[in-house]
Amino acid sequence: PIKIRKICCIGAGYVGGPTSAVIASKNPEIQVTVVDYNRERIEAWQTDNLPIYEPGLLDVVQAARDAKSKRTPNLFFSTDVDRCIAEADLILLSVNTPTKSLGRGAGHASELSFLESAVRKIGEVAESNKIIVEKSTVPCRAADTLRDVLSATAKPDLHFEILSNPEFLAEGTAIPNLLNPDRILIGSLKTPRGLQAAQALADVYGSWVDLDRIITINLYSSELAKLAANALLAQRISSVNALSAMCESVGADIDEVSYAIGLDKRIGSRMLKASVGFGGSCFRKDILSLAYIAESLHLFEVADYWRSIVEINEYQKDRFTRRIVRCLYNSLSGKTLAVWGFAYKKDTGDTRETAAISVVDNVLTEGANVRIYDPLVKETQIRQELKSTTSRLDCAEKQLVVCESAYEACTGADAVIILTEWDEFSNRGEVARRDSGHGKKTEERTGRKVDWARVAEVMRRPMFVFDGRNIVDAGALEELGFRVECIGKA
Ligand code: NAI
Repeated sequence: PIKIRKICCIGAGYVGGPTSAVIASKNPEIQVTVVDYNRERIEAWQTDNLPIYEPGLLDVVQAARDAKSKRTPNLFFSTDVDRCIAEADLILLSVNTPTKSLGRGAGHASELSFLESAVRKIGEVAESNKIIVEKSTVPCRAADTLRDVLSATAKPDLHFEILSNPEFLAEGTAIPNLLNPDRILIGSLKTPRGLQAAQALADVYGSWVDLDRIITINLYSSELAKLAANALLAQRISSVNALSAMCESVGADIDEVSYAIGLDKRIGSRMLKASVGFGGSCFRKDILSLAYIAESLHLFEVADYWRSIVEINEYQKDRFTRRIVRCLYNSLSGKTLAVWGFAYKKDTGDTRETAAISVVDNVLTEGANVRIYDPLVKETQIRQELKSTTSRLDCAEKQLVVCESAYEACTGADAVIILTEWDEFSNRGEVARRDSGHGKKTEERTGRKVDWARVAEVMRRPMFVFDGRNIVDAGALEELGFRVECIGKA
């Protein structure tokens, strides 16, 4: 059997950083080095001001990285990609695989150039056999591409075994997800060397994950399973969001409908929350990639089916903005809207593909003044995100203010628009405080809960609340004089 002593993770992002930190913390005898060309990111990983926020992440990083803890450090961050590749027995590829922006398949297919260049580098500098693990989400048969690049670039007497080991963590709960995964998927070729490599990787996870949760399957099944999992998760959200549109017309309540549906064990209750629409870097790109693959296999109906999940999501975001305009007497011109939350979900600072971008862009186009507050996301990031996506950048500068608190944002505002489900915004205070999950951590961190009576004092009349996450108790707010519009409630 192969015993892994040194791991090199290429890509120090949302996946590479937390995954490597957990692997290192659970395998003190393995040296884990995360490499990236992004020097700023690597330097931040070496401080206590990590480049990404995840509840519990800093503790795990410090335990494995810092000499001050009792054990010998075994987690390192470096920009010396060549040396770390050369030294490693096992390489985790955790680079980004965004949607292609140029040429054939632009806007649909996966961009594999980052993965390809990482693998070319491996081919160039490797002096020993390596196990190469696809941790990034990739299209089916990406492993063949990687093998082909290696066979043309590496020394001919070396052997590279490619495994698929997709990551299923969710941002905001990455650490609990990594510590206690539903399953670890390891895909390999069914050759003796493939199986041996899969076993070596399984042993790394085996130091903290029960063996019955480590599933070894065919390489291509594993690649496809990751795209399929994201497609099905997003499909649940789009299904519920489609139902929410019906609820608003027939006088039903989507939270009640979701609750009733979720009690069916075949369905289950999770990922059935209606909202303004899903965001994040993965769902959209992975579904579009899946649809593109289907199309390239001439399975056009299948491609349309998957794409409709993304279409419903766009529709939901638009529908939400249209409702805001309608309620505010069909004009946002000269009106002020407080936007609470910019991250794509709570407990993360990630704003990639956040629904807030579309909603803010839409209301700016309607002429509204927008005052944004997010407990975690900084002004520079918000402006950068909007600059690269809004259709009216010139106006955005003048119409947009980023605020330091929820109250500052709603001062003089006609409406509060909740776009991220931060606990701070909910008026269901006691429920959130009793919650023993990761929600509690956020409250401890921000230590704040909005006082809605105070909000009412500073807003213009009539005061509207558009709850894009269904986190407020509308009845209680109505007593304070708010007019509350929730998703999927008439
Ligand atoms: P990210 O963009 O945060 O991190 C990727 C990092 O790779 C960047 O820091 C970039 O500088 C670096 N990089 C790119 N090419 C490189 C090269 N040739 N050499 C060295 N470094 C290089 O991306 P994130 O979010 O960590 O995602 C990575 C992969 O994991 C993607 O395929 C994504 O679909 C997948 N994934 C992401 C999840 C998430 O929640 N963000 C969850 C599960 C999978």
